[in-house]
Amino acid sequence: MNFDQQLTAYKNQVEAALNALPMENAPEPLKSAMRYSLLSGGKRLRGCLTLAACEAAGGNTADALPFACAVEMIHAYSLIHDDLPAMDNDTLRRGKPTNHVVYGEAVAILAGDGLLTHAFEVMAASRHPMAFRALGELARAAGIGGMLRGQTLDVTLEGTVPDISTVRDIHLGKTAALLTAPVAAGLILAGADETLLCAGRAYGTHLGLAFQIVDDLLDIEGDVALLGKSTGKDIQEGKLTWPACVGVPQARKDAESHIAAAVEALAPFGEKADFLRALARATLHRVQ
Ligand code: IPE
Ligand code: IPE
Ligand code: MG
Ligand code: MG
Ligand code: MG
Repeated sequence: MNFDQQLTAYKNQVEAALNALPMENAPEPLKSAMRYSLLSGGKRLRGCLTLAACEAAGGNTADALPFACAVEMIHAYSLIHDDLPAMDNDTLRRGKPTNHVVYGEAVAILAGDGLLTHAFEVMAASRHPMAFRALGELARAAGIGGMLRGQTLDVTLEGTVPDISTVRDIHLGKTAALLTAPVAAGLILAGADETLLCAGRAYGTHLGLAFQIVDDLLDIEGDVALLGKSTGKDIQEGKLTWPACVGVPQARKDAESHIAAAVEALAPFGEKADFLRALARATLHRVQ
């Protein structure tokens, strides 16, 4: 399989597993609101990373699938809350009206809470001997020292003068944490040793920084129709972004350096990580 075929295969696996998740206990409109954001497209990057990391360390994707679903649920929750009027106040996500536009703010908040909690329910149901450790990785990454830390700095520092170390801190938290954790979880489930785990974390961190730098660039240069979300909002809201700090050309160069570092970090895996390397490189040229 070439890279595109492998990516499609991973994506299809994640998509099918997400579609099959039982949510029958949720009352309406909570269930519809959760499914609206969870099953509304998206690149499934975090889910694919979970499966690919697991395979790169010789594991079985079936073991990683509940964790791939969990990270996509946590991600979907973070997007619903990120789009709320009190946060980024966005009305377009994945080419569709945002959750609160369709269901109202109260249900959108609950749908985010529902997806976050359901992610842990799904992981807790895994019988894998390393499930608890993998769950811990995602908990830490989503939590107060990870994504929530980044989101807190992002919203509270809006309108302040950006400096690169603060922006790096924001990007590490709000984005890199939730790209590193699925890599680490996939590796842990495959029984990877400390050397591979350390390499995987370095890969995820650099990939995550590059991914958010490119996200910042797409907010300036991207095409709304392809992106499926609004552009121009970061400057309008005074967001602390990488290009706001160093300019567009340098931001592009920095994204390239982080991708080079991500690829380099994978050396201990040898050719088993070729998919992860190609995935990192593809991030630089993404248009959505
Ligand atoms: C959007 O993430 C939020 C960021 C961290 C930049 P993605 O660009 O992965 O969003 P989807 O899942 O493909 O919609
Ligand atoms: C959001 O960063 C990251 C999370 C949702 C955790 P942004 O606010 O830049 O993401 P977009 O541009 O709305 O997707
Ligand atoms: Mg935001
Ligand atoms: Mg946003
Ligand atoms: Mg953005």
